[in-house]
Amino acid sequence: MLTASLVIDPAFVVGPVRRRTFGSFVEHLGRCVYTGIHDPEHASADEDGFRGDVLDLVKELGTGTVRYPGGNFVSGYRWEDGIGPREQRPSRLDLAWHSTDPNTVGVDEFMRWAKKADVEPMMAINLGTRGVQEALDILEYCNVAGGTQLSDLRRANGAEEPYGIKMWCLGNEMDGPWQIGHKTAHEYGRLATEAARAMRMVDPDLELVVCGSSSSAMPTFGTWEATVLEEAYEYVDYISAHAYYSEKDGDLASFLASAVDMDHFIDSVSATADAVRAAKKLTKRIHISFDEWNVWYQHRAESRPPTGDDWPVAPVLLEDRYNVADAVVVGNLLISLLRHTDRVHSASLAQLVNVIAPIMTEPGGRSWRQTTFHPFALTSEHAKGEVLQVAVDAPTLETEKFGEVSALDAVATRDPETGAVAIFAVNRSTTETLTLTVDVRSLGDVRVVGAQTLSNPDHTWAASADDATSVLPVENGTAAVSDGVVTVELPAVSWSVVRLGA
Ligand code: AHR
Repeated sequence: MLTASLVIDPAFVVGPVRRRTFGSFVEHLGRCVYTGIHDPEHASADEDGFRGDVLDLVKELGTGTVRYPGGNFVSGYRWEDGIGPREQRPSRLDLAWHSTDPNTVGVDEFMRWAKKADVEPMMAINLGTRGVQEALDILEYCNVAGGTQLSDLRRANGAEEPYGIKMWCLGNEMDGPWQIGHKTAHEYGRLATEAARAMRMVDPDLELVVCGSSSSAMPTFGTWEATVLEEAYEYVDYISAHAYYSEKDGDLASFLASAVDMDHFIDSVSATADAVRAAKKLTKRIHISFDEWNVWYQHRAESRPPTGDDWPVAPVLLEDRYNVADAVVVGNLLISLLRHTDRVHSASLAQLVNVIAPIMTEPGGRSWRQTTFHPFALTSEHAKGEVLQVAVDAPTLETEKFGEVSALDAVATRDPETGAVAIFAVNRSTTETLTLTVDVRSLGDVRVVGAQTLSNPDHTWAASADDATSVLPVENGTAAVSDGVVTVELPAVSWSVVRLGA
């Protein structure tokens, strides 16, 4: 049995809980769009062909923003293929995923879907095969009220009001040699700067995201950020970060400590951005848009795109099935994102439906929640108000990948209006229960309002269409408060939320 303690004090505020931390991502990839969010044949489909069951699950997930339309896809995308009468839209080869896109869904459909899902759109532009002019064109189409060719075209296509999209991603993973139109940091930094400068001439209040590294393992990690920001610092608001984790070679202990890497990633990018800021003698700070993060088993067959002459529409791709340990890691990655709320102002779980997703569908059939759905939905629901810095005293565990790591990871939030507190905690031990005590004396008289834990003796249990409910977060009956100290038992390989109130 392990023991650990936390101290919470409402005076130690890291920053606000941001709805944008609970963003997600819809890419034209596999079955994310087609038969995922859009399935006109489905019984629950609405007049636009959007699945009602999926819309309900997206709302239940508590999604804040949704990034669209890619991902690697965007680096070859011609956005104007996806507007206007459906029968006149071209089918195109999608080189990123060796598929065919019928362009049935484009920017107007996505914006209608985003409104129905009640999410903020985050639009990515193509800086792979395209440049400044096309960035300006899609901006004019989306955000100019009217009286110009492209804004009037939008109105003619049924959207009288401008979309007013605030957040724009200046390309995707341009550091990756796999990216269509891959560039050096200097080439990309110049292009992103010119695109940003021109876009700001249309609207100075846009929020622009420049591409950072596609993973902290990239050989250019660090120098990419520095070079790109030396060019673009003055013109952008965010730098992106992408990270995917998976259990490799049965090394569960290292996998459960994945958030250690995310912490390091965020701290390194922040330090690099601040170094550029100092060198430029500026006061403005660049924040992080962690706009792709998740567990992803990239080596598995389902992540391999088709090859040869086979260019299918909406193939099964990246349809990872997540187990309980994967969900614990997703919950822990959210703890890391919240802990850095002063620096991470936006994040996107990649992706939303079918493709490495918390929500799965059958074409024309059932939809269900993966294990990873639950920590995301519960964190989104209960993290309110401000993120508090917590003082942790916990034993360490030895891991192959990260050396000694804390057995406990935790963060707390507090709503100053209601006094409601939520403590999110992960026990990373693969074998031992951890008894956690939390000193909450500074919160005054509080009681445990609820506590839920996700774990299972078999952490490899994964949800499926036939059984998505055998393992769910359950009420943790051990949670209690006495004399200003909360005690709760956290099983091995578990994620929990403990809620306190008056
Ligand atoms: O989310 C899947 C892919 O991962 C995205 O298309 C790409 O940006 C990243 O490499």
